Amino acid sequence: MNDEKLYLVLMGLPARGKSTLAIRLQEAFRKSRIPTKIFNNGNLRRAYLPLKETSSANFYHPENISGIEMRKKFALINMKRAKTYLAGPGQVAILDAANVSRERRKMIEENLDNHPILFIECVNDDQEILTLSILEKTNLPEFSLLNRQRAQAEFLKRIDNYRMIYTPLKAERNYFRLDSLQNKILEEKQSDPMPLYLLIKDILITDVVKNLFLIRHAETKFNTIDRIGGDSTLTAKGIFQAKALGRFFKKRQISYIFTSHKKRTIQTARAICAMQKDCKIIPIREFDEINAGICEGMTYKDIEKNFPDVFNARKTNKYHYVYPQGESYETMKPRIEAGIKKAFFLNRHADNIMIIGHQAVNRMILAHFLYRRDVDVPYIYIPQDEFYHIVSMQNKKLFELKPYT
Ligand code: F6P
Repeated sequence: MNDEKLYLVLMGLPARGKSTLAIRLQEAFRKSRIPTKIFNNGNLRRAYLPLKETSSANFYHPENISGIEMRKKFALINMKRAKTYLAGPGQVAILDAANVSRERRKMIEENLDNHPILFIECVNDDQEILTLSILEKTNLPEFSLLNRQRAQAEFLKRIDNYRMIYTPLKAERNYFRLDSLQNKILEEKQSDPMPLYLLIKDILITDVVKNLFLIRHAETKFNTIDRIGGDSTLTAKGIFQAKALGRFFKKRQISYIFTSHKKRTIQTARAICAMQKDCKIIPIREFDEINAGICEGMTYKDIEKNFPDVFNARKTNKYHYVYPQGESYETMKPRIEAGIKKAFFLNRHADNIMIIGHQAVNRMILAHFLYRRDVDVPYIYIPQDEFYHIVSMQNKKLFELKPYT
């Protein structure tokens, strides 16, 4: 056995982020000059079979003999191609398919017996993410013959069909089970010497950000009178700022803008979307501004006057202080982290990601990528006339505050 080369075999139900992971692995390997190629069964299926057949859930039913034969055929073609690739200059062959049954994986082990195999199972059961990913999938040409509702129903049935024969990784000799939303390894097993094992592990758990544009909503009525929280709309100056943002980002393609559920972030996003060709706003509740509890809607002066204890306690320990009936920076952290994971998962096919948040929220998002001591986080500068451009990749880091006018 030649131990320098490797088969990486992905596994998981549809819409669990396998193809995105395949591309992420390929890009990271290529940056390290490791020749890598992806062999995707779905692409073969879509290229060789009529859409009518592949968009129907019935094609994937575990008792549909002709469907099984077809899918087996495509799997064998890709295995053969992967083998040929590794016999030449290739070093890593990534096999991208559901591979959810032990039987299918046994077939892979028997066929690909000349180099080590590392399986990676992608697990993700977040319902909100799944719903959004399915919406995205059913917009693809594969479902163009069906109306939206029917396409979604067929896709859900397809998932159920795969679920019937799903066996998690266990018997395999080498594997990672990955939470593909959190980029967290749930379980790992290594029985054979495995090339690139640590690099792969590193890629699996690293959040890669090519271009994150982190923007604070434009000026609101509440901002001008120093009131916190609430749900106010933009001022004339705010609308001007939002339009300027739109013009600034016109030349960059922004497919999704993630906002909070507050009017001020959505209104800012709309002005940017209006200047884009194809852009969608996705409000994420996890990006709502810190909840100031009993102090919502007050000015800092009001708080000092009406609740001096609150004012002083927060001043002394801003990161940890929890507003009565509200939040602290510390208690906000899990929801902000969850919001980041959601946004990145949904934006996985694009290089640019834009988040329009709030002062405290953006501080937390920034701190996720740029290390800051907890006590310093509530004082990070978050202006409304500049935005943060963040790049965080294995070989490149950038944090820049940029004006947009
Ligand atoms: O003032 C705007 C605002 O976004 C408020 O809604 C929020 O309570 C505050 O900033 C958070 O900043 P700090 O933690 O500095 O009070």
